[in-house]
Amino acid sequence: MTAENLTSGRIQIAMGLQDVVVDESKICFIDGKLPKLLYYGYNILDLAENCSYEEIVHLLLKGKLPSKTELAAISRELIEARGLPADVLETIKKAPKSSIPMDVLRTAVSQLALTDPKPNDDTPEGRYRKAIRLTALFPEIVAADYRARRGLDAVKNNPKLGHAANFMWLLHGKEAGPFVVKTMDVALVLHAEHSFNASTFTARVIAATLSDMYSAVTGAIGALKGPLHGGANEGVIKTLLEIGDASKVEPWILEKTKDKGFRLMGFGHRVYKALDPRAVVLKKYSEKSGKEAGVTKWFEMSVKIEEMMKTREKPLYPNVDFYSASTYYTMGLPPEIFTPIFAVSRVAGWCAHVIEQQSHNRLIRPDCAYTGAMDVPFVPIEKR
Ligand code: SDX
Repeated sequence: MTAENLTSGRIQIAMGLQDVVVDESKICFIDGKLPKLLYYGYNILDLAENCSYEEIVHLLLKGKLPSKTELAAISRELIEARGLPADVLETIKKAPKSSIPMDVLRTAVSQLALTDPKPNDDTPEGRYRKAIRLTALFPEIVAADYRARRGLDAVKNNPKLGHAANFMWLLHGKEAGPFVVKTMDVALVLHAEHSFNASTFTARVIAATLSDMYSAVTGAIGALKGPLHGGANEGVIKTLLEIGDASKVEPWILEKTKDKGFRLMGFGHRVYKALDPRAVVLKKYSEKSGKEAGVTKWFEMSVKIEEMMKTREKPLYPNVDFYSASTYYTMGLPPEIFTPIFAVSRVAGWCAHVIEQQSHNRLIRPDCAYTGAMDVPFVPIEKR
């Protein structure tokens, strides 16, 4: 069913809460037509090219870009918050090899609450401390799971490395080159925040009951996993691998799009009705990454698909997930961690929204148009 307003009697129903404004927020502005994306007023194109992920964490959690001193301080906080508890590492190692990395991430994050001395500390300092701890530990969980599936021990953090560089270090056990680190840093900046998307709104609904940050982020991971949301980037690489090469793009797309219900992963968006600004940046990095790796076919195929989809009768444009797939793949990252990488970035946005929700809270509890039976006479079991 496409997102359309249904009527039930005289009630107007906004399926999927499309276009429903449920609260105010200072964190992120999106104009889906221009298009424009701002984090606390700063344009994403400026942020992606000029800021490290640590600067964005400061912007999201404190509402302003850091000075050099403030950046050094938050970088130190993130480094000091590293160090996955042994129990959590054990859970990751014991996860069945058939498990999905997003399920391991969700389980490990939930267990982090059991290793926090004050998991329900809902003072501003407590929320900030948990936001830093979660942001610092997501890369370790994803990397430890990636290595455990390959029979490799987890790697210890490298305190000399920043967030993106340390993540690549944790994955491969060696320092990545400057281009790979910069590409990962830009990807983390681009995926960090996006207003009331499904996973962030999930976090806000949980936060609005005055539950804790760990519960809200665990719920958000569950929402992000879905292929209509963060899971799409894994769907994109599966599409590219299935098509195989550029010569097969056109027949594959023509065949698949005959089915009205078909959804091409990495295309379309509830808000953007033009090219997602994040896809503009990631397209550049997909091309650069392909050239750097000497494998340009995934980028070339992606461009061909983009051309076909935007020249349709009803044009569709790439979203953030489309070019991130070819970028990560040519960086040598396996598809199974594409969505966990999205979570490694978005955790800062989720935490920022939990803090904002609880700073001016009202329980989130919508209504529905009841279409079931009314006042049914009760029949005792002997007579049913
Ligand atoms: C993310 O919300 C966010 O901000 C999310 C996100 C973030 O940063 O948090 O931006 C990240 O989740 C990006 C989206 C990743 N998902 C995908 O790439 C999955 C593929 N996309 C679609 O499933 C779809 O576009 C959605 C789910 C993203 C949006 O769906 P909507 O708004 O409910 O739109 P719809 O499914 O009702 O489609 C509207 C029309 C339909 O055509 P008509 O029936 O009107 O003729 O557009 C068509 C659809 O057929 N359409 C697609 C399509 N997306 C929309 N047709 C084919 N392939 C697609 N991908």
